[in-house]
Amino acid sequence: MATMSAGMIHRSPCRGPAKGRTAKAPTKHHGPHNSYSVQALPHDAHHRTGEARSGIRRPDIASMSMETRKLMEAVVVGEAGQLEIQPVPLPQAKHDEAIVELHATSINRGEARRAKQVAKPGFRPGWDVAGVVRQAAENGCGPPVGARVVGLLTGGAWSEFTAIPVTALAELPPGISFAEASCLPVAGLTALYALHRGASLVGRRVLVTGATGGVGHLACQIGQASGATVIAAIRDPAHEPFVRRFGADAVALIGDEASAVSRYGPYDLIVESVGGAMLEACLPALSPHGLCVALGVSGGRRFSLDAEAFFRARASLTGMVLFHDLQTIESAATGLSRLLSLMARGKLRPHIGGRRPWLEIDSAADDLLKRAMPGKIVIERRRDEH
Ligand SMILES: NC(=O)c1ccc[n+]([C@@H]2O[C@H](COP(=O)([O-])OP(=O)(O)OC[C@H]3O[C@@H](n4cnc5c(N)ncnc54)[C@H](OP(=O)(O)O)[C@@H]3O)[C@@H](O)[C@H]2O)c1
Repeated sequence: MATMSAGMIHRSPCRGPAKGRTAKAPTKHHGPHNSYSVQALPHDAHHRTGEARSGIRRPDIASMSMETRKLMEAVVVGEAGQLEIQPVPLPQAKHDEAIVELHATSINRGEARRAKQVAKPGFRPGWDVAGVVRQAAENGCGPPVGARVVGLLTGGAWSEFTAIPVTALAELPPGISFAEASCLPVAGLTALYALHRGASLVGRRVLVTGATGGVGHLACQIGQASGATVIAAIRDPAHEPFVRRFGADAVALIGDEASAVSRYGPYDLIVESVGGAMLEACLPALSPHGLCVALGVSGGRRFSLDAEAFFRARASLTGMVLFHDLQTIESAATGLSRLLSLMARGKLRPHIGGRRPWLEIDSAADDLLKRAMPGKIVIERRRDEH
């Protein structure tokens, strides 16, 4: 794939610890505002609207500066399984972590499913962060205080402040909003590394299933930018203009019949995020030596396989898990920088299907699970000035 080569791996430059570069650690401050009083937040009408709509009232800590308190707001799974904003301790940064104040995050199907259907009360979900560095890493690496960044965590990202390793942070180029950037960490990197498995994509036929979804619509665009002919599998014909706008060269309209994907094949590479009957239908549609990357189970977990047809085609099936790829392929910082550079050149544009205030994160997660809209759902904690 044209956009993926070892020579393009960039490490965050380390400037070395500098006096005055880092703000004081938040936990060292014991100002007068450490207790909670429950009242409406004065600082942002946009979020007051969400508060009124959701009926949730939030502690007033968010109007205080980070330096004068020990607690912050975070999304926590409540007793009834709903997502609530609760006060939690401020994060403490390790020497290679920056503290980032959250401006926007996006919701991914996997974390919404886990948070709303599996996790126990007290669990703190969240992977994607876009915001501003409030405290640079002590080791002198990564973005400085005030930098606009996007980053990835393995959990707890839906928090007012997070401590993020600099190896998982990238600075935003001018003109890219927090909301757009927040769509990149999980969905964008998953799309990037699924396509990476196809090696050189120039002139290859790539099928993307779940093409209207968070991962799918980014995979279509990255595939197209890499020189592939991208075929988007969709079930609703009304989504055809959407996928064509977001990277599809052709459309496989499958309706409720997954096996219809074979009509548009064969495919050299399949980015398969639906699972079940869709994965079963995809494997016979591979070209000789073709590869199917299975990465999701939006539509089901189990499938059956005609093993003889499969081995006679010398096709391959591989699974991927993003957080494992980040140990082996490259750091999230590098991957995010590459995605941002595609965005800055107009080759990649996340579609924000829904923009919701922080206090509506619970209903926004429900909407995502119901597939209420194509593309990504973004949660805004602070008004996006870009
Ligand atoms: N392995 C990893 O590291 C990794 C990383 C990220 C995501 N994932 C997984 O990848 C999957 C997609 O994630 P996402 O964030 O893109 O989800 P998403 O935004 O909710 O999109 C889901 C997509 O799947 C389609 N879909 C759902 N059920 C379907 C069915 N029964 N038949 C056909 N199409 C169906 C949807 O089409 P409609 O628009 O028609 O509803 C939509 O295009 C999820 O299972 C997620 O957990 C895995």
